[in-house]
Amino acid sequence: MIKNLEKLKRIVARDSKVIMTTTRVNYPLVIEKGNGDYAYDAAGNRFIDFSSFISVYNFGVNANAQIRSAVKKQVDVMMHTAFNDYYSELPVVFAEKLVKMFPGGFGKVFFSNSGTEANEAALKFSKIFTKKQYALSFYNSFHGRTYGSLGLTASFTVHRENFGPFNSVIHTPFPYCYRCKLNDGSKCCLESVDNIENNILQKETSGKEIAAVFLEPIQGEGGYIVPPKEFVKELRRITKDNGILLVSDEVQAGYMRTGKFLALDNFGVDADIYTMAKAIAGGIPMGVTISKKSLGDIPEGSHSNTFGGNLVAVAAANASIDYVRRNQRSLELSAKKKGKKIMTRLNELKERYEIVGDVRGLGLMIGVEFVKSKKTKEYATIERDRILKLCFNEGLILLPAGRSAIRLIPPLTMSMQNIEKGLDILESAIKEISSG
Ligand SMILES: Cc1ncc(COP(=O)(O)O)c(C=O)c1O
Repeated sequence: MIKNLEKLKRIVARDSKVIMTTTRVNYPLVIEKGNGDYAYDAAGNRFIDFSSFISVYNFGVNANAQIRSAVKKQVDVMMHTAFNDYYSELPVVFAEKLVKMFPGGFGKVFFSNSGTEANEAALKFSKIFTKKQYALSFYNSFHGRTYGSLGLTASFTVHRENFGPFNSVIHTPFPYCYRCKLNDGSKCCLESVDNIENNILQKETSGKEIAAVFLEPIQGEGGYIVPPKEFVKELRRITKDNGILLVSDEVQAGYMRTGKFLALDNFGVDADIYTMAKAIAGGIPMGVTISKKSLGDIPEGSHSNTFGGNLVAVAAANASIDYVRRNQRSLELSAKKKGKKIMTRLNELKERYEIVGDVRGLGLMIGVEFVKSKKTKEYATIERDRILKLCFNEGLILLPAGRSAIRLIPPLTMSMQNIEKGLDILESAIKEISSG
């Protein structure tokens, strides 16, 4: 049970007077500090973190000692150098290491400060590279909230209404196997592929006008939806057949979250442009857009920013990528082993509780979707929100995804013991909600 709730509520009340409304949860999680598997609130309550604070702390809450120490050192040397205008060596060192993590032939890196900016850059670059004007993205996708990437995003109308019209983006269904009309996991991708090939490319516009397809290898905000491998392979074939670039938005699913550095690697295809943010600098804002060298470069002055390549962010990212390079195999095994543990336990819950409709994921990127009944699959949004609140009360931080799912994305470094403790808390909450 949360202690000193009144203190937390007072901070929330002050917050709502001066901070613009955003996407806050409906319980008073007021974080003060964190370390490893845990975060602590302003009243001294301790929480197991199954959120990685939106997939950022992949290697432990508040990053690890190496990343923190690199940041501390850099702050005393130089923080900001206007890297997109002047030169500096550290961002080059980091970019050289980063490029090596991508398929052969990748090599041009652009630095920004967030996921949305990384996607804005990818959208602009794909238009410059191809001289084409349209982009294609998927329903349930989330690519960010600034105008270009918001045009791509299509997970909730609340993100878009009042803001349109948007840039020339065509949306198409993503294979959501659990809710597929064909009701057959293996065939569900066919509908999505068919819509692109036989509706969009035949009736709306041809590949001559579509610059890029934006894909989240696993849809995040839209509900932790894992597409069938066959769909991703077919999509890649379509982009190649039609001269369309494939942009893999790795902002949430990338950077070892699924056990692989690139989430798209789980599907055996490559992209032409990748975007990353969130975990890349271990808690300091950074976005990167990285493209195939063969696509060329952009005209000088056509895209830039003030803070991209900021030395504090780059120092963190550089220490983080060194950590990944040293520990890649063990991080991969860890994501697999812990992911399997979570999936097994959630699948047991699915057998026992009517409201647990679907369990899906790859590595340590796992979603559980709640429904009012397994037969009707009616979204159990209120029940999902009550589960989140009950878990908070018992010291477990979770995040929602989509209309009625919860995402389980603990740091990859979390101990098995705390993973089990977190799952115990989640199970108790599901039991309580199920009993009415
Ligand atoms: C897949 C994906 N792309 C882009 C974004 C936007 O990132 P940011 O919030 O850093 O702008 C998000 C954020 O959740 C995301 O999950």
